[in-house]
Amino acid sequence: MGLRSRHHKAFGLRCYPARHRSVTLLLWSLAALVVVVNVHLLIIHKEEDESISTHEIRRSIMRELEAVEEEKFKLTPPRSRRNPRAVRRKGERKPPTIVDEFLDESSAVHDMFFPELNMAVDPINGGNDSMYFYYPGRVWLDTGGKPIQAHGGGVLYDKKTKTYFWYGENKDGKTYKAHSKGADRVDIVGVSCYSSKDLWTWKNEGVVLRGEEKNVTHDLHKSNVLERPKVIYNDRTGKYVMWMHIDDANYTKASVGVAVSDSPTGPFTYLYRKRPHDCESRDMTIFKDDDGKAYLIYSSEDNSELHIGPLTDDYLDVTDDMRRFLIAQHREAPALFKHEGTYYMVTSGCTGWAPNTALAHAATSVMGPWETLGNPCVGGNEVFRSTTFLSQSTFVLPVPGLPGSFIFMADRWNPSDLRDSRYVWLPLTIGGVPDEAADYSFMFPLWSRVSIYWHKRWRLPEGWRDS
Ligand code: GAL
Repeated sequence: MGLRSRHHKAFGLRCYPARHRSVTLLLWSLAALVVVVNVHLLIIHKEEDESISTHEIRRSIMRELEAVEEEKFKLTPPRSRRNPRAVRRKGERKPPTIVDEFLDESSAVHDMFFPELNMAVDPINGGNDSMYFYYPGRVWLDTGGKPIQAHGGGVLYDKKTKTYFWYGENKDGKTYKAHSKGADRVDIVGVSCYSSKDLWTWKNEGVVLRGEEKNVTHDLHKSNVLERPKVIYNDRTGKYVMWMHIDDANYTKASVGVAVSDSPTGPFTYLYRKRPHDCESRDMTIFKDDDGKAYLIYSSEDNSELHIGPLTDDYLDVTDDMRRFLIAQHREAPALFKHEGTYYMVTSGCTGWAPNTALAHAATSVMGPWETLGNPCVGGNEVFRSTTFLSQSTFVLPVPGLPGSFIFMADRWNPSDLRDSRYVWLPLTIGGVPDEAADYSFMFPLWSRVSIYWHKRWRLPEGWRDS
């Protein structure tokens, strides 16, 4: 036995002639290669299977959300005697429009769109048949059995508590006019907060920013206006920051107000009011981008245009940077959201509490330029589509776990009894060709369509709550 063989034996290796050894090595390498390739193929197939099934689930979810209902109204013939509240001009001859009838609390059309309390969505006592169903326009009860008071609101998803918080105007007071030509109003009660795990069952967390009863010089004195409150969380400071429209009863202050809290359920401390960028600010919203930067968007210059500008890092103020957009378009009630790197916005026209046609807009940079895509409303009927389903935008909520699916949140205002204004929540999706292509795009659409689908009743897909 040579030195080499002995050495191999010493290490427990069997000794073969060199030629045999290299053949064996080759065979083993081939076998290893086959195993590696198979394992790899197995992984790829599994991923494919998974992505196919995720894709299919998503498609069926989209189909479910997109099914559109036709709405057939049976309208009573216009009456000769009408409530003065609904009459626009003295001696008006024109037959009342559906919107006129809708605003006239003595009309049967009005009743049709403000169904009675016995039709309310009641998550606690409603029974299994209506479980998780949204019924746009019906009274919506909280877990205590009281109608939800969160108008002109928005929803914050709080990662810390894995809970949704819905903030909005508490309008639970008497509707009156501050003077004969003024808008219908209610005194400031404050900002309500409701919490939920499923976006359907809402627990009242109380009034988290209260109106002021006595001090008439206070911005939040009940005789003033507090509208469209929105809350975002600042990851750097750990504070919940609320922005809102602050005004006097005549809407001449045209300012924003800022409040802050350590907890999503308040209490919020009111900090101050200002005119952002020294400009009028009425309907407004705030938007927090993926990179943590936040923006204020507001109607300005007598509501003729919208402005957008970044907030400071602590979200407590605006910076000097501001862009004007949709100039001379007279848009308000902005609701901004983002999908696959593109920014979208839904706005309304400026007709007070009366509903009008919504428009969707898009931009590749949040600061603009913003393009108009057209009316996002689909289904229902012509009247519904041209009146945002008789409601006005307030917020667009991305549905977690369903990329490209959003909940469009709107208010169906009841100017004769504002506390009884209703919520219209509907599925909003992004995809397909928009109605209006930008002029410079040579008719090739640069954006996808934003679609809000009418449903008398609908719900998020089964299984969404478990995901
Ligand atoms: C609307 C506005 C509401 C409220 C109302 C008062 O145009 O969107 O938030 O201000 O006017 O009439």
